[in-house]
Amino acid sequence: MKRAVILLLALCLCLAIAPPAAADAPGKTLVVWFSCTGTTQAVAETAADILGADTYEIVPIQPYTDADLAYYTGGRADQEQADPSARPAISGGVEDMAQYDTVLLGYPIWHGQAPRIISTFLESYDLSGKTILPFCTSHSSGIGSSADDLHALAPDAVWLDGTRFAAGASREEIAAWLDGSGIRAAGAVGVFDFEKRTVMLNSGYEMPILGLGTYSLSDEECYASVTALLQAGGRLIDTAYMYGNEAAVGRAVRDSGVPREEIFVITKLYPGAQYDQPEAAIQEALDKLDIGYIDMMLLHHPGENDVQAYKAMEQAVAEGKIHSLGLSNWYVEELEEFLPQVDIMPALVQNEIHPYYQENDVIPYIQGLGIVVQGWYPFGGRGYTADLLGNETISAIAADHGVSSAQVILRWDLQKGVVVIPGSSDPDHIRENLDLFGFALTDDEMGRINALDRGEKHDWY
Ligand SMILES: Cc1cc2nc3c(=O)[nH]c(=O)nc-3n(C[C@H](O)[C@H](O)[C@H](O)COP(=O)(O)O)c2cc1C
Repeated sequence: MKRAVILLLALCLCLAIAPPAAADAPGKTLVVWFSCTGTTQAVAETAADILGADTYEIVPIQPYTDADLAYYTGGRADQEQADPSARPAISGGVEDMAQYDTVLLGYPIWHGQAPRIISTFLESYDLSGKTILPFCTSHSSGIGSSADDLHALAPDAVWLDGTRFAAGASREEIAAWLDGSGIRAAGAVGVFDFEKRTVMLNSGYEMPILGLGTYSLSDEECYASVTALLQAGGRLIDTAYMYGNEAAVGRAVRDSGVPREEIFVITKLYPGAQYDQPEAAIQEALDKLDIGYIDMMLLHHPGENDVQAYKAMEQAVAEGKIHSLGLSNWYVEELEEFLPQVDIMPALVQNEIHPYYQENDVIPYIQGLGIVVQGWYPFGGRGYTADLLGNETISAIAADHGVSSAQVILRWDLQKGVVVIPGSSDPDHIRENLDLFGFALTDDEMGRINALDRGEKHDWY
């Protein structure tokens, strides 16, 4: 396993993720960087995106030309690095530094040190009491003493250990670093943010906590349903090769006018030919969806060559074709066998979950690994929906809140930390299924629904 993944796994195990609650508002963070050729900037922007932090780029009044940057030529950069008192001037500044508790400070390594303009920056502000997390990029050098040598310029700041990234550092690597350095709020991975209606995945991407399942929807129904979802503000769509409607999902996404990056599409590879030739299967999904990248790809259920298929998905992550990975219909034993064989920790496990089949032993195990849980068949699945929605306890709770039984079940899922993707082709139901934030279930109501568990699984793989 990659070091970053082991680190993340260890961290998540230690945290033993608490039942989801609205995330605490952390202190404000500013990501600051200086970058001449974009390498440091890429890391900084990814870190800022993961943290939802503000950004500030250190821009020199006198830009560095290629000749200035040509090292070992005695040019401008070489000269500045040879002169510890050099302070290249900065254009503009941070508007209100006082509002930030934490500053990430990124720079390229120049002759083993931070560029002197970083010294200019540090001397321009009162950074006392702020936490500073340095990071650098370089051709091959480590961070060395470059960060420690900056401490004297902001002696009253709390300096965390810095780290070095190579060009092209992955989002997963950056997320693991932020977790490991404690910058990302402890437990943030997997914690549902009910304000933003998203959850932060261990891959460093945010995923909406509610959306639409497209199982059994024909192309036409699927296109109309995804369109209705996106118009109603929903942003999460679950499809699969097996559903035969990836192309319709992609078309609806493209036609929606909603910015691509706001939408989160999950699809799945199916055992058999797809696990045997996963590269071709991944390409097929990319082609059918035709939405640039795939937000998340799952293995539909355990099967021959599933590890091989997952490894191909890992490669697609490295190539930027897929952002996050996950598994569907994997339970405790299956996970114990599977996880040691792969490098990227799954970000999500999607299983059958409803009040009659609650997986109360499985969910905490998965969440404890820092993996988000998503439920399929939230209303019990075909042939069982009427029974479940008509359940006395659920109906009574629904009546008390003036909502539908479906909304009660979905809200129960969210309060358990389970992402919901109810399937529907009815625009009214699709809108109703998104309307889950005007009420909350009490502990007593949660307990009454928890008591309905019958261990009654309605579909098998
Ligand atoms: C003047 C100068 C000196 C450099 N010195 C080193 C060095 O000592 N070790 C190293 O690995 N890379 C060195 N590099 C390469 C940069 O650290 C590396 O390309 C960095 O990722 C560039 O970041 P940027 O694209 O954000 O500007 C140097 C680059 C310049 C311009």
